[in-house]
Amino acid sequence: MLNIAVIGAGRIGHVHARTIAGHPQADLALVCDPVGDAAEKLASQYDGARSAKDAEEAFADPQVDAVIIGSPTPLHIPHLLAAAKAGKAVLCEKPIALDMADVEAARTDLDAISTPVMFGFNRRFDPSFAAVRAAVEAGRIGALEQLTVISRDPAAPPIEYVTVSGGIFRDMTIHDFDTARFFLGDITEVHAVGQNLDPAIEEAGDFDAAVVTLRAASGAVATIINNRHCASGYDQRLEASGHDGALFAENIRPTTVRLSNAEVTDAQEPYLDFFLERYADAYRLELSAFIEAVEAGTTPPTGIGDAVAALRLAEAATRSARTGEVVRLGS
Ligand SMILES: NC(=O)c1ccc[n+]([C@@H]2O[C@H](COP(=O)([O-])OP(=O)(O)OC[C@H]3O[C@@H](n4cnc5c(N)ncnc54)[C@H](O)[C@@H]3O)[C@@H](O)[C@H]2O)c1
Repeated sequence: MLNIAVIGAGRIGHVHARTIAGHPQADLALVCDPVGDAAEKLASQYDGARSAKDAEEAFADPQVDAVIIGSPTPLHIPHLLAAAKAGKAVLCEKPIALDMADVEAARTDLDAISTPVMFGFNRRFDPSFAAVRAAVEAGRIGALEQLTVISRDPAAPPIEYVTVSGGIFRDMTIHDFDTARFFLGDITEVHAVGQNLDPAIEEAGDFDAAVVTLRAASGAVATIINNRHCASGYDQRLEASGHDGALFAENIRPTTVRLSNAEVTDAQEPYLDFFLERYADAYRLELSAFIEAVEAGTTPPTGIGDAVAALRLAEAATRSARTGEVVRLGS
């Protein structure tokens, strides 16, 4: 049984608290958040969970074995280093930082971490995406030639979130960069086209939709399609096309019921609503992988190297979208 503290009682903090509380090998020990009564409110939903304003309480608490960091992105490295220094295992949310300069500034300390560290690239654990990858690895479609990832949110986050998010590529596409690396390995070339469909987001200096193409060292190519808005809901799909066939992971709905009448044929319920619902299994399996690694003393999947590689792709995409250039990276 792993006693876990959640740092940050915001949107993803709620997801992790619920996932921990429902996991047979985890206990939610503590929730930390300095703002208002956020920590207390979240902790009070779960038996035995305590709350604190200061994350230091989690790092100093001998009852806490591990922390999940869901604080704002600029705090990820400081919280990660403090937790690791205190000997805690860490599951940290993406992205590792807003800037590669912040990663480089902390490089020596990051390299010195000896406790288990995992990053929250939950989509690797989605049962459908993982099954597609397993089928690719098993050779079911021959050599992988093209990967297509479609990820559209139902609605944009509040503008206050957008302004501190680091931009669409670091905040949203980062998941898809990790998915591309999961399937294709090292990426050598990035070309991104940003779109401004939402004037409020344009005013905040960000794109709210984008198409990115990535070339891998293997020669395979990935296309990522993102939009902060989608009228038909949380659109999450993936297609892997190989020399001998293709694999498709489609959107998921609450039921398989279809309606046909004079107005529509084969109408179905809307897709599962947003990340909490759509990726509930993925968050649970991500937590299981973390617990398994911590308890077995093995290296967790999706470590600091994956987090840094995804951030590097996000920075390359940001540059490409701003300048129109194709950014080439060392493999
Ligand atoms: N993996 C995913 O699916 C996923 C989904 C959403 C967000 N995220 C990531 O999680 C992080 C948080 O995003 P969010 O949407 O939950 O944001 P949010 O703004 O809803 O929540 C952040 C919380 O952190 C708290 N906080 C601020 N300073 C703190 C401190 N010093 N110590 C502890 N808590 C502090 C805030 O009060 C807030 O409650 C971001 O890095 C984001 O990229 C990941």
